[in-house]
Amino acid sequence: MLITLDESHRQLVHQVRDHAGEWLAAKGTDQYRGGLDMDQVHANIDADFDRFPFVGWEIDGRVAAMMAIIDPEEDFWTPEELTESQTYISRFFVVEHGKDYGSALLEAVIDRARQEGKRWMRLNCWSTNTRLHEYYVRHGFTHVRTADVPGRMSGALLQRDLVSSDVAERAGEDEVGVYSA
Ligand SMILES: CC(C)(COP(=O)(O)OP(=O)(O)OC[C@H]1O[C@@H](n2cnc3c(N)ncnc32)[C@H](O)[C@@H]1OP(=O)(O)O)[C@@H](O)C(=O)NCCC(=O)NCCS
Repeated sequence: MLITLDESHRQLVHQVRDHAGEWLAAKGTDQYRGGLDMDQVHANIDADFDRFPFVGWEIDGRVAAMMAIIDPEEDFWTPEELTESQTYISRFFVVEHGKDYGSALLEAVIDRARQEGKRWMRLNCWSTNTRLHEYYVRHGFTHVRTADVPGRMSGALLQRDLVSSDVAERAGEDEVGVYSA
């Protein structure tokens, strides 16, 4: 079930970010590495938590995955892209891997964005982590470009088209209808 997080979940966001750092280190990617100042990382999470809504995927009364719905990042997107109708996500973490809890949350947020009439679902993520990019591609995202902004390691820009994919899905439904008629 899709829920909106509240103050009682703030520490959980910090915990899963720490957990993600350890999990990624064991995977051999440089994501979240390279001398990051963890005090700054946690201060940035708090700033986002104060400013933006966080949503979660709740299973049996516990939050199993979470993400922030933020403003599109001006460092990375063109002025025209920034004005487009979109849901922009960040701080996407799962409490337990291998259960598709993150996928369930991502798809629920995509469904909600589509119902709200949004054109795009967008995010930026770690530039060099191709396995992470592949995760999003499996979820219908395409790689727009990788922005090279000094000091920002997360310039891989991905988006999912909510309108065309919706049209394609409906066309698929129609096709089934034709064959079953
Ligand atoms: C991204 C995330 C929320 C997805 O959760 P989920 O849908 O429940 O999926 P899982 O965690 O089970 O991962 C699914 C697959 O994607 C891979 N994957 C996910 N995030 C990855 C990452 N950052 N780097 C490399 N591989 C990653 C997993 O290794 C797994 O691969 P496998 O099927 O070959 O084992 C979760 O993997 C996570 O918390 N990752 C760490 C933090 C992160 O990178 N967040 C995204 C920031 S943009």
